[in-house]
Amino acid sequence: MKISVIGAGHVGATAAQRIAEKKLAQEVVLVDIVEGIPQGKGLDMWESAPIEGFDAKVIGTNDYADTANSDIVVVTAGLARKPGMSRDDLRDKNAEIIKSVTEQIAKYSPQTKIIMVTNPLDVMTYVAYKVSGFEPNRVFGQAGILDTARYRTFLSMELGISVRDIQAMVLGGHGDDMVPLIRYTTVSGIPVTQMISRDRLEEIVQRTRVGGGEIVKYLKTGSAYYAPSAATVEMVEAVVHDAKRLLPCSAWLTGQFGISDTYAGVPVILGKDGVEKIVEIELNDEERAMLHASANHVKENIAALKI
Ligand code: NAI
Ligand code: 2OP
Repeated sequence: MKISVIGAGHVGATAAQRIAEKKLAQEVVLVDIVEGIPQGKGLDMWESAPIEGFDAKVIGTNDYADTANSDIVVVTAGLARKPGMSRDDLRDKNAEIIKSVTEQIAKYSPQTKIIMVTNPLDVMTYVAYKVSGFEPNRVFGQAGILDTARYRTFLSMELGISVRDIQAMVLGGHGDDMVPLIRYTTVSGIPVTQMISRDRLEEIVQRTRVGGGEIVKYLKTGSAYYAPSAATVEMVEAVVHDAKRLLPCSAWLTGQFGISDTYAGVPVILGKDGVEKIVEIELNDEERAMLHASANHVKENIAALKI
């Protein structure tokens, strides 16, 4: 396995470190536009190998030739949110960056799978899909795992029960109109509605929706990266191990859930071929309406793209 991470900033560097430490690749290549940063971070990470006990080479570079024949490319290049900014505010600048990054990926690794992380997530995943010309199963985005992890963490805090025993799924675009599915949220199989009042659950859902902004407000100079990188690497791991995980990911929709011609977060089976299947779970009218509203928001942003 050779895995490249484009963007050696907060999310990219942390993801590369997790990939190396989890022994998911023999070679990890960290790329950035800024000279010196990927080289310095890559070497520093490689020098942790004797202590952490991994054998991967970690190469930092500004040259995409070093990424040639990657099995997976994780894309985190671009601008991050600052206080007062929405993810959509990043759209046009990041679209330019993702276009040029994707051209390089497609040139040097035509068989690779692309895992998009850059925001606005669903729109940038679309840009990579269009520019690469890859089949849609090979281009998908990380959002739902992070949003679900935040929701599960908040539920765990509320209940005083291990996060490991809380099962949930957040669908929709990676925006404040994301769709946490209360009806499918359980604590070891017990519907969460038996444990938390509806009003309190709505408050937890709302905290989840603005969970990214909560971290931005604390950090002031950027956005979250520990949970985002962990979520991204869970997807990498599913592909590397052909694990057939059922996870919420941003996938290209062709009529599933009554939605087409856009990326949005839906349950997928992730394995060695990337998105191997979109799982059309049953949604009630309210959940379906929320998913459509969220997907329509992504579509509007795709339509407004200037690339
Ligand atoms: P950061 O600012 O720490 O890192 C971004 C890196 O991209 C910088 O090192 C920058 O030099 C590099 N870069 C810029 N243009 C480039 C180019 N053309 N080629 C290669 N590298 C380039 O930002 P951070 O915190 O790592 O976030 C990265 C992106 O991920 C942002 O767009 C952020 O909004 C998004 N994000 C998405 C999440 C998700 O759940 N999908 C969660 C967290 C962040
Ligand atoms: C987050 O949700 C900024 O999308 C990023 O933390």
